Amino acid sequence: MTKYTDILKKEISTYLLTDNIFFHYKGRVSLYAILKSMGVGKDDEVIIPAYTCVVVPNPIIYLGAKPVYVEIDKASLCMDLSQLEKAITKKTKVIICQNTYGLSANVDEIVKIAKSQNLYTIEDCTHGFGGNYKGKPNGSYCDAAFYSMQWNKPFSSGVGGFMTVNNPVLLDSIIKQEPEKHEISFGTKINLKLLFFVKRYLLNKTTYWIMVNFYRWLSKNNLITGSSSGEEITDIIIPDKFFMNYSEVQAKEAVRNIKKLPELLELRKQNASVYSTFLKSKNKCYVDEKLFNNHAFLKYPVFVKDREEFFNYARKHKIELGDWFNSPIHPVQCNFGKWFINPEEFPIALEASKHVINIPTDTKNPERVISFLEKYIDEIK
Ligand SMILES: Cc1ncc(COP(=O)(O)O)c(C=O)c1O
Repeated sequence: MTKYTDILKKEISTYLLTDNIFFHYKGRVSLYAILKSMGVGKDDEVIIPAYTCVVVPNPIIYLGAKPVYVEIDKASLCMDLSQLEKAITKKTKVIICQNTYGLSANVDEIVKIAKSQNLYTIEDCTHGFGGNYKGKPNGSYCDAAFYSMQWNKPFSSGVGGFMTVNNPVLLDSIIKQEPEKHEISFGTKINLKLLFFVKRYLLNKTTYWIMVNFYRWLSKNNLITGSSSGEEITDIIIPDKFFMNYSEVQAKEAVRNIKKLPELLELRKQNASVYSTFLKSKNKCYVDEKLFNNHAFLKYPVFVKDREEFFNYARKHKIELGDWFNSPIHPVQCNFGKWFINPEEFPIALEASKHVINIPTDTKNPERVISFLEKYIDEIK
C-alpha cells in the first residue's frame, strides 16, 4: 500500500519543484535538523528576525549556539535589510529569514549578503508555503527551508513539519540523521485523531474562542498534543524526544488538506486585497499590494491602538482574530534574557507585538470582517 507520506511528498514536490523533502513531527524539528547539518554548535551565532516564534531561537540554543536578532521593517514585518549587516560577526554561521504571514522576506538580497560572507541561509517558510517570490516558490533561494503543518498553517496536519534542501552539501548529514528520529507514541496518535475530529465537526465561528482558549490551556499544561509544550515557552532545555518523526496519521490529514490549497491560496489573496483597499480608503496602515502579489497570505496584519480591547470586541462579534505575534519571541512575556533578547532594542518589533492583530484571510465572508473593522475604525492605527 502506498504510504500517505509518499503521497504527501509528491504533492509538496509539485509546489516546491524539488524531491529533497524530509518530514518531521513539527517545523521546529526540521529547523533543528537543518542547523545540525550546517554544523551549528557552541560559540556560533545564528541571525534571526526579532519578530518570530520562540520555537525558532530554541533549536539554535539547544545546539549550544546563540540567536542574534535583527529589527524588522514595519511595512513587511520581515527582517530589515539595512540592519542585517551590522548583526554579522566573525561567529555568524547562518542567517534565517522568514516570510512573516506569507509576506516577502527580501530573500534574494539576504542570500546575496550571506554568500558574500560565506554564511549559510535558511528560509523559514512556516507561513509561506504555496507562495512565490520573484517567480520562484518560497523556499527556493536559501540553502534549505523549513515548513509547518501546524493548525493555522497553509495546510495542516494538526502538527507537522518538513524541510527542503537546496544545497547538496547538506544532504548527507540530513540523511544520516533520519534513523535517529523517535516515532510518535500510540497515545499521541489517538490524541491527534481526536483533535482532527473536533476541528472538523465542532469548530465554528460560535465555538472558536472557547475552543482556542481551551486548546491553548491544555497544550500549555502538557495535557494534549499541542503546538508548543510548556517547557518550550518557559525554558531553553530541549524537550524529551524532541527529534521526532512525522507519522502516517498526520500525513493522511495533510494529504486531505493540501488538496484544498489552490482554492484557499486564491481566497486568501482576494481577501487580502479587499482588506488593503478598505484600510487604505480609511487612511489606516495597510499591506501594500506589491508586497503580496504572489504570496501565501496566511494572515493579514492590522495595527490597532489597544490590542486587548480589540480582542474583546472580536469575541463580542464572533470574529476569529489571530494573535501572532504577541511578543518579539511569541508567546514569551518574561525572562527574555534566556533567549538572548532585550525587546527594548527592537522598537518596531516591539510595537508590532503590542499592536498587531491578524484578521482572517480564509473567510468566505470578508464583508463581515470589514463591517467589524468599520465599527471600530477609530481603534485602528
Ligand atoms: C515564524 C514561525 N517559525 C516557526 C514556527 C514553528 O512551526 P511548528 O509549530 O511546525 O514547529 C512557527 C510556528 O507557528 C512560526 O510561526
